[in-house]
Amino acid sequence: MEKATGSLTPSLKSKKRVKPIQFTLLLLAVFSYSLTYLLWSDTHTETLPINAAAIVAQCRALHLTPGPPEDFGSRTESDRFQDGTKPTLIRNATIWTGLDNGNEVIRGDILIDKGLIKKVGIVDESILRSYADLVVLDAAGSWVSPGVVDLHSHVGVMSAPLLNGASDTNSIKGLVQPWLRSLDGLNTHDDAYRLSISGGVTVANVLPGSANAIGGQAFVIKLRPTTERSSSAMLLEPPFSLNGTYVDPFQRPRWRQMKHACGENPSRVYSGTRMDTQWAFRQGYNTARKIKNKQDAYCAKALAGEWKDLGDFPEDLQWEALVDVLRGRVKVQNHCYEAVDLDGIVRLTNEFKFSIAAFHHAHEAYLVPDLIKKAYGHPPAVAIFATHGRYKREAYRGSEFAPRILADNGLDVVMKSDHPIVNSRHLIHQAQQAHYFGLAANLALASVTSTPARIMGQDHRIGRIIEGFDADVVVWDSHPLALGATPKQVFIDGIAQLENPYTSHKPESAQHIPHTPDFEKEISDAIEHEGLPPLEPETAKSDVVVFWNVGSIFLKNKTTRGISEVFTSALKDGVLVFENGRITCSGSLEACPGALSYSNALYLNLEGGTIYPGLVSYGSTLGLGHIPGEASTNDGPVFDPLSAQVPEILDGSVIKAADGLLFATRDALLAYCSGVTSAVTAPTSYGFLAGLSTVFSTAAAHKLVDGAVIQEVAALHVELSLSSGISVSTQIAALRELLLGEGKKEGHLGRRFSEVALGKLPLVVNVESADIIASLLVLKKEVEAAKGSSIRLTIAGATEGHLLAKEIGEAGVGVLIEQRPYPMQWEQKRLLPGPPLTQSSAIATLVSHNVTVGILVGDPSQVRNTRFDMAWAELESNGALRRSQVLEMASSNVETLLGVVESNSDLVATSGGSDFDGKVIAIISSRQGTVHLV
Ligand SMILES: *[C@@H]1O[C@H](CO)[C@@H](O)[C@H](O)[C@H]1NC(C)=O
Ligand SMILES: *[C@@H]1O[C@H](CO)[C@@H](O)[C@H](O)[C@H]1NC(C)=O
Ligand SMILES: *[C@@H]1O[C@H](CO)[C@@H](O)[C@H](O)[C@H]1NC(C)=O
Ligand SMILES: *[C@@H]1O[C@H](CO)[C@@H](O)[C@H](O)[C@H]1NC(C)=O
Repeated sequence: MEKATGSLTPSLKSKKRVKPIQFTLLLLAVFSYSLTYLLWSDTHTETLPINAAAIVAQCRALHLTPGPPEDFGSRTESDRFQDGTKPTLIRNATIWTGLDNGNEVIRGDILIDKGLIKKVGIVDESILRSYADLVVLDAAGSWVSPGVVDLHSHVGVMSAPLLNGASDTNSIKGLVQPWLRSLDGLNTHDDAYRLSISGGVTVANVLPGSANAIGGQAFVIKLRPTTERSSSAMLLEPPFSLNGTYVDPFQRPRWRQMKHACGENPSRVYSGTRMDTQWAFRQGYNTARKIKNKQDAYCAKALAGEWKDLGDFPEDLQWEALVDVLRGRVKVQNHCYEAVDLDGIVRLTNEFKFSIAAFHHAHEAYLVPDLIKKAYGHPPAVAIFATHGRYKREAYRGSEFAPRILADNGLDVVMKSDHPIVNSRHLIHQAQQAHYFGLAANLALASVTSTPARIMGQDHRIGRIIEGFDADVVVWDSHPLALGATPKQVFIDGIAQLENPYTSHKPESAQHIPHTPDFEKEISDAIEHEGLPPLEPETAKSDVVVFWNVGSIFLKNKTTRGISEVFTSALKDGVLVFENGRITCSGSLEACPGALSYSNALYLNLEGGTIYPGLVSYGSTLGLGHIPGEASTNDGPVFDPLSAQVPEILDGSVIKAADGLLFATRDALLAYCSGVTSAVTAPTSYGFLAGLSTVFSTAAAHKLVDGAVIQEVAALHVELSLSSGISVSTQIAALRELLLGEGKKEGHLGRRFSEVALGKLPLVVNVESADIIASLLVLKKEVEAAKGSSIRLTIAGATEGHLLAKEIGEAGVGVLIEQRPYPMQWEQKRLLPGPPLTQSSAIATLVSHNVTVGILVGDPSQVRNTRFDMAWAELESNGALRRSQVLEMASSNVETLLGVVESNSDLVATSGGSDFDGKVIAIISSRQGTVHLV
């Protein structure tokens, strides 16, 4: 406890000064009142307002800074304590406390009672004996961390599933609206609460959206269900004034939160420019400043006893929150990406003298650390995504090394979800990736716990494991920075949130901080090239390349496409020799004598790494665009024949993605450098019919390079959805018509669908709902009966597919599915979340019914992370899936399901390990007879 107090941050230390200040204020208030009375009672009695004392108190209170009451640290029960919650002892834990700059780890116990952490470390038997109803959880050495804190979330206001009846993220009634409150839209039934808690998230700052320069006030909530079941009951330390309760003028106010946004979003929504948004900011702040100045002048007079004609305290309900920003009582959470926008806000803060708590998204912050430090008051923290980027211009220069670079510059780093942009259930994975790409482990864990708690002004009670803090605690099944780390139990306010949690057994190696690769060169390249370092692979010049110190080798059987581990050694002393364009030997040193004695060879030391088949991606627009949000950088969407008039010139045509391929996009090159060496992409469609997918090389410079287009046409793609605006029955009717219809065979469309009906061309149907999948399976039978054929059907998406795993398996239908499901739409509501909520994941369930499964990646910037998705699928299967199987899911199965004829024959070499412990350093292309160094 001593240690804890010693390291408290300034905001908490300052509470010690509160008492004298309060006392002085009281004296001053009384004093000025009596003085006023004495001086003016004879001549000016009529000018002395009856509420003079209250006014003086109000004026004095304007200078109180937010923070907990002085005696907060000695509370014995949390204001959020739920009656009936039993005390709990978490026994034998490895506790990351968040103290000592995130470096303190304690082996011991945690005693929880009355919603608070009562004891950390060794808990005296005599204390334990005093509890009759103590619940004991044996952590058996497991890692325990504070609850994960999300500084930037739209949980509750952008609820899952998205429904028109609850779209409460953005008001579009004005550019500057500091009077709005996210609380007013906080849905208590968001499906995401339970899912996010299952990922260890306990607290979220719920922000309005970014459609406005000033979008409104944000509110910090705890995610657990409450007995009151209200939105307000979820709040953590809301401002006292929120519900009209009497506000004690001598009590320090509580921190408020406010959303600001600059750049593209406000410009887009209000058809304006950055100049308009910046002026709107200045106008708003000018209004607030005038009110503040009036208040200060008024109070100067009141406190000087000059009551004559003073009138009422100047205030304005609409602007009071922005006035509070100028008074330093609001944590401004500012969505702001590019140097140009950060610069504008830094100027704004200095013009109006207020500070920013954090710049959010801020994809260019790492390029301008000195600018960030010029913000008024103190440098804002920077709250970012790990690898989610390039989705719009503002995110184009984002770097996976930003967390590390920002930390090197002494700036506070926060990893956030922007939920549901990133499903906050996996916020810890943002910290894991930041760590993988170079952020120190202590700071990576702090970036989702103690740092966001401090940045939101709640570090007097959450974000660290300290006696007297809120009992928000996560028991993990591995080190929290290990890939796939999953809670075994989550406590919020001392209440266990997971009923009968399922845990996967994690390998011993996952119990330690992952040993991550060296990225020093990549880090300096990112800065040198302003976020756009060259990504083109370099071709090895030597005719002989020898990989040595190989830990394991996985190869694909060319006939069956099955992948098996052909070599593994605890000594990690394997070799693979690539000579004159082909592999001449691989395996143990004994099997390849002479491998280490070439004089002209390039030797690549894999340091125990792995060699495995090149991965294949499907599910995103990879290869069809550079910046998804910029129409002029993309191939663009097709006409949908069901919902729009297709121009006559295209009547009957089927669009081929191959015609729209764009090469050398940053997402494709990053994918290549991360082992995803080919991809299958379908035309972009927002409706029923997409067209024909194509298979291409992610490394090719342009279409005319040999091997750039691997297969011009792969499969035919359609979508069946409850959200399309046209009835599902109509969509099924259209599909039936196309598959069975006789009169429509003339054009290309008819011909392609009859190829599908005859089993010659695979049909890929994007479909999420189990009900629609069932109808599709019925239609498949119907067509097969009519044609005497066997349709090659693949379902993509399939979030509810696990409900029909048996039927899908029996129908011989394959499934392309994301490794981490989320119920964004109603038709995904019945997802299978996997551990800790369910024993089996959707992938493992489908596989257990003999369904051929491929991993789908929907975000082009995340294709580079396919190797993590695949390893995670293996980890969460609790032994049901082997590495060779998940490798197939990320390569050959994808090809099989999409009708890829010539299988990807590349090999990927990683150094160090194969997952978080290693990085891809080379790609062997047997097709081109080269080794690419990446
Ligand atoms: C704590 O757990 C570890 C791992 O299971 C075990 O080896 C150790 O004996 C336990 N210690 C106590 C005090 O129970
Ligand atoms: C208003 O909020 C305060 C805490 O901020 C709480 O103590 C009080 O009970 C609330 N009043 C009502 C009427 O809900
Ligand atoms: C590939 O699989 C086939 C069929 O199981 C088998 O006969 C063949 O030996 C395998 N090839 C290799 C190189 O393992
Ligand atoms: C899956 O296939 C295996 C081997 O073909 C078979 O033994 C098993 O019964 C099948 N399982 C199911 C659930 O269909």
